[in-house]
Amino acid sequence: MREEIINTKNQAFSEITEASDTTELENIRVTYLGRQGKINNLTKEIKNLSGIERSEAGKLINEAKETIEKLLATQRNKLKQTERKWFDPTIPGKRPVEGHLHLVTQAIDEIADVFEKIGFVRVRYPEVEWDWYAFGALNFPENHPARDDWETFFVDSKDSTKYGPMVLTPHTSSGQIREMERVKTPPIRMVNIAKCYRRQSDVSHVPMFHQFEGLVVDKDISIVNLKGTLDYFAKTFFGKSRKTRLRPYHFQFTEPSFEVDISCGICNGHGCKLCKQGWLELGGAGMVHPNVLKNCGVDPTKYTGFAFGWGVERTYMMKSGLEIGDVRLLYSSDLSFLGQF
Ligand code: FA5
Repeated sequence: MREEIINTKNQAFSEITEASDTTELENIRVTYLGRQGKINNLTKEIKNLSGIERSEAGKLINEAKETIEKLLATQRNKLKQTERKWFDPTIPGKRPVEGHLHLVTQAIDEIADVFEKIGFVRVRYPEVEWDWYAFGALNFPENHPARDDWETFFVDSKDSTKYGPMVLTPHTSSGQIREMERVKTPPIRMVNIAKCYRRQSDVSHVPMFHQFEGLVVDKDISIVNLKGTLDYFAKTFFGKSRKTRLRPYHFQFTEPSFEVDISCGICNGHGCKLCKQGWLELGGAGMVHPNVLKNCGVDPTKYTGFAFGWGVERTYMMKSGLEIGDVRLLYSSDLSFLGQF
């Protein structure tokens, strides 16, 4: 019996020290220390021994059990460390779900591309602006009712003695003033694409949206140049069959002023549920008001210009095939919606 116990212990020793991973080690543990294991089987045989032999065998079995347990623990720690260090660089990695640029970012890139091709320079101006740039220099007298249409957010800060209260830019037209101040002497050909803020929220309005503003100032600029630029944009961005039309309107900073419509892409200008009479409104445009040129130090007897300002979200929603019925969806952060584009 004594020999059998010692042999079992030695056998366990060599198996444990040769084990190459923790799974194999666990199998060895079951073989020796499990309920049906070799040590338990030896224990069961003790009852057949006589007096002294019995207590000696008991002691030896306990010793063997303790030795095997200690060996198993030491070997387990050793293997765990080497297993952790081992790294197979050839195993293929887990691919993360691939996203894409937000729709509005895609639209901005596309719009900028169209204008850059005909020589417009892309600019960006502050989102937190002075009243003078957002209204005053754009020919809005103080307290004029036309300001109300811009439903402006005012910043709770000290007014500037020169520029008045601080606001969140309600439109990109403030960029006209900043650009004329920067360039000083025309020619100017800018496209200002930026965030705008207004106290509005419904199917076609969000409190934070984007506009793109074109401004061209040079000698002999006329409405013909404006119409040509708008048509070029409509055909490049929406498709060859689309047309624009100018409808007389009023803006403080352009004279004459227009609202620009684009022929409906769903019914091809015949009239449908979406557009009603074949046309969809895109945004505003007009010839830069002489007072605005004067406010920026540009001589209106030498130079003329045109400007237009449209909503990025609204313009993108009018693209053929994109049936987005509510502008707020664009900012819902709903991946099942955004993932479609
Ligand atoms: C303006 O903001 C003028 N600054 C445009 C302009 C520029 C006229 C240069 C003449 C010369 P209006 O308030 O109409 O105009 O806004 C223009 C466009 O911005 C709208 O047609 C619409 O497409 C978009 N827009 C305005 N408010 C919102 C809003 N809350 N949410 C989403 N889009 C908006």
